[in-house]
Amino acid sequence: MMNSNYKPEKILVDKGFDADFSWDRINELCKLFSDDDLLQSYVYKMHEHDKALDLKRGEFYPELLRSIISIKRSVSSLYGIDVTQVQPNFGSNGSIDTILSAVKVEETKRLNQWVNTMTQRLHNTVSTFRNKTSSESTFAEIETILLIERRQGGALFTSPTYFRNYNSASAKDLIIHLVPLTENYQLDTQAFINAMLQLQPSIVFLVTPNNPTGLPIPDHDLLCILDKLPQDAWALIDRTLVNTRPEIGSKDLLHRYADKNVAILHSFSKYRGMSHHRIGVALYSNPAMANIVQPHLPLGIGLEGCLKANRIVLQDGGIFPSEHIISNIKENNTLLRSFVTDFPDFDFTDFSGNYCLVMLPRLLSSQNACNLLYQRGLYVMGGHEFPEPNQSLLRLHTGGPPKYIKLFCRIISKMAGDS
Ligand SMILES: Cc1ncc(COP(=O)(O)O)c(C=O)c1O
Repeated sequence: MMNSNYKPEKILVDKGFDADFSWDRINELCKLFSDDDLLQSYVYKMHEHDKALDLKRGEFYPELLRSIISIKRSVSSLYGIDVTQVQPNFGSNGSIDTILSAVKVEETKRLNQWVNTMTQRLHNTVSTFRNKTSSESTFAEIETILLIERRQGGALFTSPTYFRNYNSASAKDLIIHLVPLTENYQLDTQAFINAMLQLQPSIVFLVTPNNPTGLPIPDHDLLCILDKLPQDAWALIDRTLVNTRPEIGSKDLLHRYADKNVAILHSFSKYRGMSHHRIGVALYSNPAMANIVQPHLPLGIGLEGCLKANRIVLQDGGIFPSEHIISNIKENNTLLRSFVTDFPDFDFTDFSGNYCLVMLPRLLSSQNACNLLYQRGLYVMGGHEFPEPNQSLLRLHTGGPPKYIKLFCRIISKMAGDS
């Protein structure tokens, strides 16, 4: 059964978690999931009860479509927007890929239009030359045409930001413009606005809290950027990570910027520990923007995740993080705060989200720190693995059990003594 060409290390990059599941583990995990035969017979009974027998699509497709429309309805009524402005997807990754595909197509259309206009202008100019109606002014016009710069577009990110955004944008051949974070890993709001106005990107990403820093964009800065968002640009506010601090609601943002093109991403991965269900939603500030993205939507949603997400939305009256995860993040922040007080050679970003950066003492490299932590069975992301490598940083996941962060602090404090 085993393919000799199968090299996990080539396709799996999560060192430490790259071993196959054993048969026992597969069985144990499958016991925890729903029984598909049971589900199928329940669905047949449901169809019979509703007098709606399905010889049209089969399997669970009708239920899937119904679950998608149900969550669209629930969210649209809670957020006071049209059903078309709610697009469920396979997590925020699905939303990001889908929106960037639409951006690429819009850019290509714009480029084609620009090429057509320029070609027409050149044709007209050349024909005036042929008709000998002018010569000097013809050359001047050709020179003018050659000097016209077309809008480059592309995507504007802070640097660093969520690593997958780089891959997703470059896979679509979108230009990536980067605005470095400040020394304190905060968004440099003025530099971001300047870049947005000068470079004229097609889309700007506002990831709040940001990954890997866990730092949110303060409301005031977020609103300043959105107020200046050009009419022909899109903004994507990625609210995938939990924010333990108060922030302006997504509903308020959607209504405030109804005449601009703003998408807000929420996901049940980091908010509810449901990343295995791959379910999130993109909310759009107006139907026109949503309609441009709609044809790019994949049918990439599972029935169980979609139903569970809808139930949560209806129970909670919106898309909010669980109390449990909020409390983990707060407790993990307190633990790291007391660690850096005891070991002032270390520092960390004062996170409110599911990740944070730890700044290492000068003599300890991220590579060495990772290797030593691995030996104690603790896996973290080293700054040397970032898209823009930085040996003085580690990224920690901060949404999980505080005992993991306690162990991290214990091990790393010993290392600091030895370095
Ligand atoms: C900022 C950010 N956006 C999007 C995602 C993707 O989330 P999802 O699991 O909903 O696809 C992540 C995952 O870590 C993230 O940190």
